[in-house]
Amino acid sequence: MKQRVKKRWEDHTITGIGRREARAAFYEDTSEKISLNGQWKFLYLEAPELSPEGFMNAGTDGWDEIDVPSVWQLRGYDAMHYTDVLYLFPIHPPYVPSQNPTGIYKKNVVLTKEWLANDTVLRFHGVDSAFDVWVNGEYVGYSKVSRLPSEFDITDYVSEGDNDITVRVYKWSDGTYLEDQDMWWLSGIYRDVELINEPKNAIMDCCVNGDLDASYRNGILSMELRTKKEECTGTWQLEKEGVRIAEGVFETKECHAHVKAFVENVQTWTAETPELYTVIVRVDGHEARVRTGFRKIEIKGRNFRVNNKVILLNGINHHDYNPKEGRVVSYEQMKSDVILMKKHNINAVRCSHYPANEYFYDLCDEYGLYVIDEADLECHGFEWVENYEWITDDPEWEASYVDRSVRMVKRDRNHPCIIMWSMGNESSFGCNFRSAAKAIRELDQTRLVHYEGDSEAEVTDVYSTMYTRLKGLQEIAEYKVKGEKPHVMCEYGHSMGNGPGGLKAYQDMYRRHSRLQGGFIWEWYDHGIYTEEEGHTYYKYGGNFEDFPTNGNFCIDGMLMPDRTPSPALLEYKQVISPIEVQKVEGKNNELILTNWYDFLSLSHLYIKWWISGNEETVEEGLINELSAAPGEEQRVIIPYTAFMPQANVDYYLNVSVCYKEATAFAEKGYEISRTQFALPEHMVVLERRPAGDKLTAEEAEGILLIRNGKICVTFHTVFGKMISVEIDGKAYLTDGPQMTVYRPTIDNDMYKKDDWMNKYFIQKSSEQLEWFSYELSDEKAVVTMQKYFGCLNQSWGYVATYEYTVYPCGQVKVHLDAKTVQNGKLEPAFLPRLGVVLRADKSLQNTMWHGRGAGENYEDTLTACPIGVYRSTVDDMGTNYVFPQENGHREAVRWFSVGDGKNSMLCTMEAPYGINLSNYTDEMIEKAQHPWQLEKSGDVTIHIDYRQSGVGSNSCGEEQLEEYKVKRQDFVMTFTLLAVQAGEEINAACKKYHDD
Ligand code: GAL
Ligand code: MG
Repeated sequence: MKQRVKKRWEDHTITGIGRREARAAFYEDTSEKISLNGQWKFLYLEAPELSPEGFMNAGTDGWDEIDVPSVWQLRGYDAMHYTDVLYLFPIHPPYVPSQNPTGIYKKNVVLTKEWLANDTVLRFHGVDSAFDVWVNGEYVGYSKVSRLPSEFDITDYVSEGDNDITVRVYKWSDGTYLEDQDMWWLSGIYRDVELINEPKNAIMDCCVNGDLDASYRNGILSMELRTKKEECTGTWQLEKEGVRIAEGVFETKECHAHVKAFVENVQTWTAETPELYTVIVRVDGHEARVRTGFRKIEIKGRNFRVNNKVILLNGINHHDYNPKEGRVVSYEQMKSDVILMKKHNINAVRCSHYPANEYFYDLCDEYGLYVIDEADLECHGFEWVENYEWITDDPEWEASYVDRSVRMVKRDRNHPCIIMWSMGNESSFGCNFRSAAKAIRELDQTRLVHYEGDSEAEVTDVYSTMYTRLKGLQEIAEYKVKGEKPHVMCEYGHSMGNGPGGLKAYQDMYRRHSRLQGGFIWEWYDHGIYTEEEGHTYYKYGGNFEDFPTNGNFCIDGMLMPDRTPSPALLEYKQVISPIEVQKVEGKNNELILTNWYDFLSLSHLYIKWWISGNEETVEEGLINELSAAPGEEQRVIIPYTAFMPQANVDYYLNVSVCYKEATAFAEKGYEISRTQFALPEHMVVLERRPAGDKLTAEEAEGILLIRNGKICVTFHTVFGKMISVEIDGKAYLTDGPQMTVYRPTIDNDMYKKDDWMNKYFIQKSSEQLEWFSYELSDEKAVVTMQKYFGCLNQSWGYVATYEYTVYPCGQVKVHLDAKTVQNGKLEPAFLPRLGVVLRADKSLQNTMWHGRGAGENYEDTLTACPIGVYRSTVDDMGTNYVFPQENGHREAVRWFSVGDGKNSMLCTMEAPYGINLSNYTDEMIEKAQHPWQLEKSGDVTIHIDYRQSGVGSNSCGEEQLEEYKVKRQDFVMTFTLLAVQAGEEINAACKKYHDD
């Protein structure tokens, strides 16, 4: 009988051939290394079987060159493809497509005689997805698991002089079934490759753990050592900042030695106090250095604790990512990631969904971040065929599952930053996870086991969920569901496009309930691919490479834009999770309550800078240095401000900024970690008479009504019922009058509402019908009134909108809209994106100022990092340049704003705080564009004044806008006044109030 050809890369029972046992990455060691990064000869094939005869021996004439590390899809081979869940081939494990893109890499290395006195080890830090290795034509071995290192002892294959290393990499392998993470499909040698000159009696492994005794003050250092020689003697030392703390000798038997030492009064490691020690081990001429920290992670009572404290994780999910290089990342990039995280008050990272590049853990040890290290394992595509347990619960696959966890633990277990081992992501649950959990515990009992897919927390130490809605979370918090294990939210706050909103509600809940030990935002990066094309620079997402099927811009879901600019969401998160919360004592204006949310630090390393602001003026300011609250405690402070005389019609605020007293490893002295603001009652209303002006006249002809004098000319359309222009001192300011709107360009977080909103309720297709129009002219003013019916295409719900325009001879126009809602049928959207008006201004008016929330974009559920103040910008700079264009640039609580050309400005003062958007793009344009470069500027500035705009929520994956942030169909009234002022006079003019207001 004929049989299917057996292929190595389709055999899930093999976890490797000739690969060495996994071991810890030393922080440093004395063995010489040759980096094999750089140019390699490269031959790209459509299948491994198409390899040229004897390629492992033959020359490379006609081959290409490729740089290592890299992914070949970003070097012009194969094709880019993004899917969230789908495998790109039939689900037929362990088999993969016969068309299996393959890369043969070849490199020559010259080795000296001295080098050959020692052993030679070839180490790959990461190859996607499986590969074979030949040295000088001889077969060395095979390995897989894309995000873990593989080492081969090639001593017997190398010789003095030229040595040829050949690596054949397969895009698809049985391993691919376990690597279905939500990300770009990328292949190749994408992490470092090196040759190690390993002494004949090398330290092979050094597994160090720094534990604490029952007092949580004294350290217990334990070390498992493995040497190449069966029996040998060595020494060890423990140092801190170069000072020797302890030392000893050890002897190995059957290659193993165990060391245990008691270290009095250690400085404990936490993310807040990343105190590191160095262990130096010497055997003959080989010296290895491993960094460690003393800390204890345990479940005690119903919580997990670090050093006996119940901690709260304020985390983020992190992928290895670079917009030009895919999953190739450098130490420098990772360092700036870690610094950026620390600067944004983040204290935890989940390595979603595979072990990160080794550097990352060194940085987390050093700067202080708790890490959930996650095995390279996800088989999400099986969920969609409703046989989610297919391989997860098939014992034949056990070795593959266990291998992924075991090799991760063996590589990373020296890192004090790691507090949990995660067995993978989104792969359902079954026997293979039971085995993996057991294997992890056999290797390491000093950390917790995590896996969200173990939804009953059968074998995990923590109960983990993702995107749990607040209601469900409350039940978890109250121990109403799933036993008693502590809970973490391994993913929430889906940062796709504009959003997430509502993070504060989650943080408050975590802080209120001890079972909830925090969560991890999804995710750090937008995975856009840097593209320069026809003069445009932009970022591609799924579908832009003709990749089908794809999840499109679902990979653009990070708090960092692809160019690493923090999005408004990251600033919001920073404030929400700030370790100090500043509140006012009820009924007092100068007394604050500070809550210390640190787990270990007191507030003594922080100071408060406070100031009272009124518009752009600082009325009083001061510093408070005596902060002392212990972790979890509160402290009251008095802001010693003295009574002051408010200026006419100015609002005053107390601003409280909390800063570091000293420079830290990641931030400069004085760096602000939180900013809170409180409105003060000091206010003085001063009314004045509106300036006089020449008498206004009215002329009406052919549907046009002109109200004017020598100063102002306002044009109305008497048939369409609209103000169509405002000219002051001969300059056109407004080019189209206010008209109601309930629509905003769809944001990703409204993707599940979009169809209803736009194809059923047609909220983008609204119009106003004139019911009646009248005007009245007197010496003091002209009042133009029109009643209109506002509604959307084929809808029974709408508004009776009465607009009243008062034109004053001094050159001002007051707009008053009274909108009463009607419903003559039954259907209507559950809520609306916005309720407000849209106007257009002359395109020369590009300079902007506003008194409201800023400086960045903010919405009702994303405004904690945006205090009220006077801000200056430009129309373009007020926008947020999302990779996938959508509603952006909104500002809440605006009392007035202006748009100007540098000489003159149109000022708009509001009777109540409203929301605004100022943009050079129309809503239709933003809705239509797929990339920023497709946005074409319109002929005028689009101005939205929103009575209210709905929050943004996190519903692309997670909680909707909370009820209080949904704008419901409701009656509303808006009043605002337009006037022209000289540039520089905006603030003064905005502070004037008139008797008839
Ligand atoms: C989760 C998954 C992540 C990502 C996210 C959506 O279900 O674990 O990998 O796909 O959803 O962006
Ligand atoms: Mg997934």
